[in-house]
This record gives sequence, structure tokens and C-alpha cells, in this order.
Amino acid sequence: MRTQVVIVGGGPSGLLLSQLLHRKGIDTVVLERKTREYVLGRIRAGILETGFVELMREAGVSKRMDAESYVHDGTIISYGDDKFGINFKELTGTSVVVYGQTEVTRDLYDAREAMGGKIVFNTENVSIHEADTNAPYVTYTVDGDEQRIDCDYVAGCDGFHGVSRQTIPLDVRREYEKVYPFGWLGILSETPPVNEELIYASSERGFALCSMRNENLSRYYIQCSLSDSPEDWTDEAFWDELKRRIPAEEAEKLITGPSIEKSIAPLRSFVTEPMRWGRLFLCGDAAHIVPPTGAKGLNTAASDIHYLYHGLVQLYETGDSKGIDTYSEKALARIWKAERFSWWMTNLLHRFPDQTEFDHKMQRADVEFLRANRDAQSVLAQNYVGLPY
Ligand code: FAD
Ligand code: DHB
Repeated sequence: MRTQVVIVGGGPSGLLLSQLLHRKGIDTVVLERKTREYVLGRIRAGILETGFVELMREAGVSKRMDAESYVHDGTIISYGDDKFGINFKELTGTSVVVYGQTEVTRDLYDAREAMGGKIVFNTENVSIHEADTNAPYVTYTVDGDEQRIDCDYVAGCDGFHGVSRQTIPLDVRREYEKVYPFGWLGILSETPPVNEELIYASSERGFALCSMRNENLSRYYIQCSLSDSPEDWTDEAFWDELKRRIPAEEAEKLITGPSIEKSIAPLRSFVTEPMRWGRLFLCGDAAHIVPPTGAKGLNTAASDIHYLYHGLVQLYETGDSKGIDTYSEKALARIWKAERFSWWMTNLLHRFPDQTEFDHKMQRADVEFLRANRDAQSVLAQNYVGLPY
């Protein structure tokens, strides 16, 4: 088999790239290790930057998102019982959109199917060959049969545990990592959200986040120990702990119910450089991870896709390789800023096991400065709504 671009990974990055390229007449094959149902069962991000929303529109998959998503003009930060708002719209002229990663992925799968896009599920032993030559190819097994696809380029969209990054030799690849000493325990419940806007809550007992998917579907997170497992937390224990971490007014209003999903995500900052090796390009979680505070994970994946998509279209349409030649540099410049923002917000709002009283005072002063200073709020707002592509 032959195609123009093999895309390894059928998560949001891979599907979006495939859909965008297809609409420009560029042929792709997506290789996904799991099934569609499995991918759609993963509850992850919920906040989209306007740049992401624009890309979904450009990909022709925004109909349901435009009808069902919620525009959020601001967010709430709380510290114990104190709280204040950050008004993105007033500070930056733009907003964010609440629309779950599950829905983004479902819309992309539906669009790919409707357009006859090629997605191979349940692929095993995916291996990228000769990526540093002009004739790369990818091998994999499906249903026990070994397959080979020859191609012009390979897009590694296979997440943090994928094979694409590992294909880049160690003497070329440099990795930067910070692992945080806690995780996030998240639940989804069919209850109305406690507040119209998201609440990022810092407290003596640790961080909590009140988020949502729609008016009867809430997503809540609490900072937890890395040694915890979701089974250690009954729904009742989760709700009790959440109430202790958010302002009393919201704790009283909180409507609880049975969880329909419960999972723990570890927190990590990670960047690999470069994001291109020969004809292989890394996109999204395959190249970088942020801690979820600030909702940048999915959004940084989208900016990579934006740069790679435009670079490939420029190449195929005009023969000019400038876009793909500068891909790694441009993507990384934006990613490091999102890494900084996510790291900063994580440090601002979480409790760390080795923190001293002095460290607590510094955190508190940082939050107080943010509360009182419009310029500081503007810095947060600009980063939260997304830096320009
Ligand atoms: P992925 O979504 O990881 O997709 C990669 C795909 O590649 C997967 O479908 C995988 O099955 C497939 N794959 C892997 N290896 C292979 C292989 N060898 N061959 C073929 N296919 C392969 N971000 C936020 O902004 N907010 C959040 O609340 C949030 N929560 C998260 C919770 C968890 C548990 C995790 C892991 C991430 C979370 N993120 C969150 C981050 C966000 O979900 C990711 O940034 C986003 O999924 C990145 O998309 P992606 O397509 O690059 O990677
Ligand atoms: C959600 C996750 C985040 O990490 C975040 O910062 C905001 C919202 C969510 O899942 O809704």
C-alpha cells in the first residue's frame, strides 16, 4: 500500500490532521492501536482555545460543537473561602469554549467515516522505517497479518507512550521532564455544575477544580496522592473532600450524585526536541505533556497540527518546504510558553509535600497579587485563552 502521509495514532491530533489534509486532497492512513470505542471511552480535556475551534471549523467538523458547546468568558480562582474572577473577554477580547475531548474525537471519527477516510484500528507492532531517507515506510500487524505502507511523510500522533518519539535516535533527541509529586483524581457525574464558570480552587488540603461538560454533566477533580487508586475513593469520600477544598458558598450549593467515571492522572511536564527527524514529525502528546492545570494539553496538540497541516499543504501545493522545515522550531516556541504557563499554574494552586511555611506564604502572596493586579490577570488570561499561532 502507498499513501502520502501515514499518521500513527487516532487520538484528536491524528484525526484532526487526517481530516484537514483530506480536505486539501492529501491522502492519509491513520493507524490506531485501540478500537474507536476505547478511544471514545477516555475522559480527558474539556476546554478548547479559539484557535482549536477555528481548526475544527476549517476541518468542516464544527457543526455539533458550534451548536452544543458553551462559551466561557472567564474563570474563578479561589483560595480557601476567598475567590475572584478573571474576565478573559474583558482582558483579551476573546473567550474559551467548553466541549469535551470525547465529543471532539467523536465528531472527527464521524467525519472521517463519512468522507471514506482510512483508519486502521487494532494495529500492533507499528514500526517506522527509514524516516531519515526520502523513502520512509511503516509496518504493522493487524489480525496477525504484517502490513507495509510506503509514504512521503509520517506524522507521529501516538501520544506519550507511542512509538514515534522512540524512533528518533537518542543522539538526536533531547528530553526535558518534570514529574510532580501528586496526581488528579477526576470524576464525571450527571449533576448540574456547581457554578457557571470553572473554579480553580487552592486550599490547605490541596487543589480542586470544578468543571463541566453541559448543564447536567459535571467534571470535578481533586489533587490526590500518587499512591492512591480510583477504587480507594468512594463517591462519598470524593464529594466530602471536594467540599472541603472549595469556598463554603459553593460547597453548600454543590449537587452530588453517583460518578459515571472515575480516574487518576499523574502530573508531568515533558518536552522532546526536535519535533522533526527527517520525514517524521511529532505532534501532540507524542512530543510534549503538560500538567492539566490551565487546560493546555489538547490545545498544544492543536497548535502542532496547525503548523504541520499548513506546512504540508504548502509543500504539496507549491513545492515550498519552508513550512515543514520550520515546523519543529515554530511548534516548540509556542509549546515552551504553554509549558511555562501550566507549570506556573500548577505551582500556584497545589500543595507540595515538601512545602515550608515560607513557601505557603509565597503562594498566598502570588494569589493576592493576581487578585489585585489587572496586568497579572491579563497575563493569565492571555495564556489561558491561548497565545497566537
Ligand atoms: P492521545 O490522545 O494520547 O492519542 C494518541 C493515540 O495514539 C491514542 O488513541 C493511542 O491509542 C494511539 N497510540 C498509541 N501508541 C500507538 C501505537 N504504537 N500505534 C498506534 N496507535 C498508537 N488535557 C487537558 O487539556 N485537560 C485535561 O483534563 C486532561 N486530562 C487528561 C487525562 C489523562 C489521563 C491524560 C492521559 C491526558 C489528559 N489531558 C488533558 C491531555 C490531553 O488529553 C492530551 O493532550 C490529548 O489527548 C493529546 O492528544 P493526542 O492525539 O496528541 O494524544
Ligand atoms: C478540564 C480539565 C482541565 O485540566 C482544566 O484545566 C479545565 C477543565 C476539564 O476536564 O473539564
